[in-house]
Amino acid sequence: MPQRVILDVDTGTDDAVALMVAALSPDLELVGATTVNGNTLVHFCTENTLRVFDYIGKQIPVFEGMSMPLSRPDFVRDVASAIHGDLLDLPPATSKKQPQHAVDWLIDTYMASDGDIILVPVGPLTNIAAAIRKEPRIVEKIPEIVIMGGAHEHGNCTPSAEFNIWADPEAARIVVNCGRPIRMIPLDATHRALIDHADCARFRELGSPAAIATAVVVERRISGYDATQPMHRLGAAPVHDALAVCAILDPSVVTTHFIHVDVEVRGELTDGRTVCDFKGRGKGKPNVHFATDADEPKFVRMLSDILGRTA
Ligand code: RIB
Ligand code: CA
Repeated sequence: MPQRVILDVDTGTDDAVALMVAALSPDLELVGATTVNGNTLVHFCTENTLRVFDYIGKQIPVFEGMSMPLSRPDFVRDVASAIHGDLLDLPPATSKKQPQHAVDWLIDTYMASDGDIILVPVGPLTNIAAAIRKEPRIVEKIPEIVIMGGAHEHGNCTPSAEFNIWADPEAARIVVNCGRPIRMIPLDATHRALIDHADCARFRELGSPAAIATAVVVERRISGYDATQPMHRLGAAPVHDALAVCAILDPSVVTTHFIHVDVEVRGELTDGRTVCDFKGRGKGKPNVHFATDADEPKFVRMLSDILGRTA
């Protein structure tokens, strides 16, 4: 039986690849996608998500969610524009979002479920935290939360914080402390699984809509990263969110440690930092399987195998 998943996205170029992997993998059933303010304004995230599903010919329900963080009225985005822009370079969407608000759909879906839907947030955790606040009983219905977010070694939008957590630290703190099994795929892992121009050329040779779309969005990422956040090798970029989905398909694509993780919400310099206790120095019990490494060749193989498929 395919594993049922829900992706919560701020589509974005790497969210797009995650959505295509989840929609096309025969081992996953993508129940729906919820959009959240993050890489760009939430209505652009919704349009981008609809564009992705239209382009690969998949009818997956899309629900629009929160347009601002839980309690950061001054939230502004700036670093993402070079890597994501506002609209994906794909044809305008013809399909429409669902009328229900994402938070209410998440609550209704989980309360009606058999507790078999893995939740995969790959943007700020605003929708998830809002759903938990509104209906705390959904927590017991979520078998696992696989988050793309966090960083121990290096931040990407401040020296100490990764964007998804930094964009709504209060929401991230609620989710990280909800008590359910959590796997976190942070920059420590995603920066060790880069996709380069040669990979994009191979994706284009595959010729499927998903492989071509992936080449388009990843080439944009590579130019954005080379210009603003050069990786340890130029001409390559992380595809953060897709690694989180691949970790569900094959957990060995990342290396994890079961540690205590919490989120700084009052730090002048460290707001949004995932504070990782690898040495048991604090009082918190381990609550997160935190990825510190990734298998780049395996990641590339997984993307090629799945994105070469057609709907
Ligand atoms: O820091 C990387 C994360 O922030 C990714 O999910 C990317 O899409 C952005 O949301
Ligand atoms: Ca994202």
